[in-house]
Amino acid sequence: MDNNILQRIGELGIVPVVKLDRAEDAVPLGRALLEGDLPIAEVTFRTDAAEESIKALSKELPELLVGAGTVLTKEQVRRAVDAGAKFIVTPGFNPSVVDYCVENHIPITPGINSPSQIEMALERGLKVVKFFPAEQSGGLAMLKAMSAPYGSVKFIPTGGVDTKNMLTYLAFNKILAVGGSWMVKPEMVAAGQFDEIARITREAVYAMHGFELAHL
Ligand code: 3PG
Repeated sequence: MDNNILQRIGELGIVPVVKLDRAEDAVPLGRALLEGDLPIAEVTFRTDAAEESIKALSKELPELLVGAGTVLTKEQVRRAVDAGAKFIVTPGFNPSVVDYCVENHIPITPGINSPSQIEMALERGLKVVKFFPAEQSGGLAMLKAMSAPYGSVKFIPTGGVDTKNMLTYLAFNKILAVGGSWMVKPEMVAAGQFDEIARITREAVYAMHGFELAHL
């Protein structure tokens, strides 16, 4: 397991979840994220353009940390990694996908929203999981109660998170980062509004940094 990648995700603090319908939008979108001071993207396998998009981002924008999201099969893990993905995110806990990643030292944050699933992750030596869907599963109150028995596990709440509520999550010491699609709306990508994506992204990053400074 490459813990440096997870550490880097923790330093960045926010993971933009990206759904790209056209691979040619990948590089302009990646540039918008860099412009917004957030050099990371989770490109979801919700569209056929995911693999090509990851490939283009890895080749053209090496300063961007690119991962693959909504990964449901081992085959998708292989395609994502071959395309250049540096980490894998899954919506749920699929033992065969998780085991494949662990055996092959591919960083993976599986989605969980129950204590049993946290224990499945712990059993495999994972220290970071995605809390999904965060808001709909009970938000921070649920996460605080659920995580209490598991001192060492860190979480990436995703699902219903945005600039407004992310700070309440980031204040909790078991949060590695938050994730969400609110910065990269598919309709903005389709309309080529990359400046607006950069603006919303920068707004989120500034809100996070302002919050960190206030709590030093
Ligand atoms: C994901 O794939 O992680 C989620 O769809 C992100 O959830 P959100 O769209 O509510 O941010």
